[in-house]
Amino acid sequence: MLSARDVGLTYGKTVALAGASATVAEGSVVALIGASGSGKSSLLYCLAGLLTPDTGEIRLDDVLLNNLSEDERSELRRKHFGFVFQFAELVPELTLRENIALPLELNGWRRADRKKRVDDLLQQLDIVEQADRRPVQVSGGQAQRAAVARAIVHRPRLLFADEPTGSLDSVNGAIVLSAMLQLAKENGTSVVLVTHDTSVAGQADEIIEMRDGRMVGSE
Ligand SMILES: Nc1ncnc2c1ncn2[C@@H]1O[C@H](COP(=O)(O)OP(=O)(O)OP(=O)(O)O)[C@@H](O)[C@H]1O
Ligand SMILES: [Mg+2]
Repeated sequence: MLSARDVGLTYGKTVALAGASATVAEGSVVALIGASGSGKSSLLYCLAGLLTPDTGEIRLDDVLLNNLSEDERSELRRKHFGFVFQFAELVPELTLRENIALPLELNGWRRADRKKRVDDLLQQLDIVEQADRRPVQVSGGQAQRAAVARAIVHRPRLLFADEPTGSLDSVNGAIVLSAMLQLAKENGTSVVLVTHDTSVAGQADEIIEMRDGRMVGSE
């Protein structure tokens, strides 16, 4: 349902993507692996409609993302997409609980439903005790788990995660991964995740290896 075809993206003279193609099926978990600088984050951002490629097509169902206006794209992201970025990006003025509830507020969830859903995720990601602290008052790993909770709280159709377990020890990495896999299984969410961790990639339905801005095997 989500696909990239022949996507090219350059930054000045740097070629980040050189004709990358990938397909993500409904409910499937796809791991993007490859060396630093191979284009993993660039492909993820193009698939997520956060970057518009110079060439090629990104399609969600039959909709060509390249052609949507910025407003249409941001509505799509708000309702149907979840993101975990490579560098955790919680709102510093808000507590973890408030950060996690944000997508629900933006999507008009009622207060009681918000509270129940956020409480469940705080528990699942083991950050109940930190819920009322701000990001600077918790550890990096706790902030990262809150960022993951915020990305999945509205049960998006698509979840994009750039090294979601990168800053976590193995126990917490497993908590985060299982929360994402559970969403894929129960909600039919498709997950695209960038990882350097072979044990994380091993749990994906499909592995796409990038090299020099393309999928390995497609050059
Ligand atoms: N904003 C930017 N301006 C200039 N060059 C960029 C920019 N973003 C990425 N690049 C370059 O594009 C190439 C691909 O970068 P990308 O971030 O997609 O790699 P990556 O596979 O995610 O690497 P890493 O594992 O280190 O995160 C790299 O050569 C990078 O330096
Ligand atoms: Mg990257």
